[in-house]
Amino acid sequence: MNTRPRRNRKSAAIRSMVEETKIGAEHLIYPIFLKDGKGVKEEISSLPNNYRWSIDQLLPEIEACMNLGVFTYDIFPAVEEHLKDQVASYSYADDNFYLNAFRKLKETFPEIVLMSDVALDPYSSDGHDGLVKNGQILNDETLPILNRMAVAQAQAGVDIIGPSDMMDGRVGSIREALDINGFINVSIMSYSAKYASAFYGPFRDALNSAPKSGDKKTYQMNPANKREALLEAELDFLEGADMLMVKPALCYLDVIHLLKENFNIPITAYNVSGECAMVYAAAEKGWLNYDLAISEMLLSMRRAGADAILTYFAKDFATLLKNK
Ligand code: PBG
Repeated sequence: MNTRPRRNRKSAAIRSMVEETKIGAEHLIYPIFLKDGKGVKEEISSLPNNYRWSIDQLLPEIEACMNLGVFTYDIFPAVEEHLKDQVASYSYADDNFYLNAFRKLKETFPEIVLMSDVALDPYSSDGHDGLVKNGQILNDETLPILNRMAVAQAQAGVDIIGPSDMMDGRVGSIREALDINGFINVSIMSYSAKYASAFYGPFRDALNSAPKSGDKKTYQMNPANKREALLEAELDFLEGADMLMVKPALCYLDVIHLLKENFNIPITAYNVSGECAMVYAAAEKGWLNYDLAISEMLLSMRRAGADAILTYFAKDFATLLKNK
């Protein structure tokens, strides 16, 4: 045998020297669920280890995560049912707790990077990402609401707008609205290839945002399609997206790789709630080693081509890296 690949694995130092993929806390984006009120820290039953926080409780948590090297946070609002309506008007209300939290976070941690979510579902009595009329999800009529939401978030200090709604033309529409209002430096990380997935369950529990009727298949992508991801990504790129996201991550590593090969802007992966819940559940039963499993999962997303990863494991993984 001339070639023995095992020679390059014979010691920890050699293995590390030839390691192809690196991952650090700087690659992590931490999704956080926010709730109105004071003194709130409610665990999400289908996503153990993750909570709905009120802002006063969240501040020390963010400080702890920043000390671990995690600087980017994607915040989602858990809105009381009585504030939801068909047109998601609470999403851009001035005294909205979500917008106030961004102001507070920026004021407390000037070096933080804040990402927001743009879609109607957390605020919609229909539980859909767009306006619903006679059972149809309206596209063009939804865009002005998304624009308004994005501008309100930019005003509150958000650095990266995250349109997760999958309406056609929304990136261009939001880009224009941001620019007209003077927010030329606010970025857009577009949920470009967002699939109609079974893995969003715990997230919908966290926000009580499941669709009241029907499903999301007329706007989120068919899991069978890969070439269509190129079309979605190309549109978002041409409409002015700064970064392209693939969501979920684990079942779509091929799509992450495809976008990485074809676009010269950062590609991100959303390691969604259901993917994380599976690991929490298996580890709780003693069927998987939690630390090893999350490390391998996150590494696989980087290896596939993700520049950054949104993951509920962010704090735990950053803790692991620190203690390595
Ligand atoms: C909806 C939205 C969803 C997630 C992020 N934004 C769920 C959905 O489309 O129903 C899911 C994230 C996760 O599961 O972690 N705008």
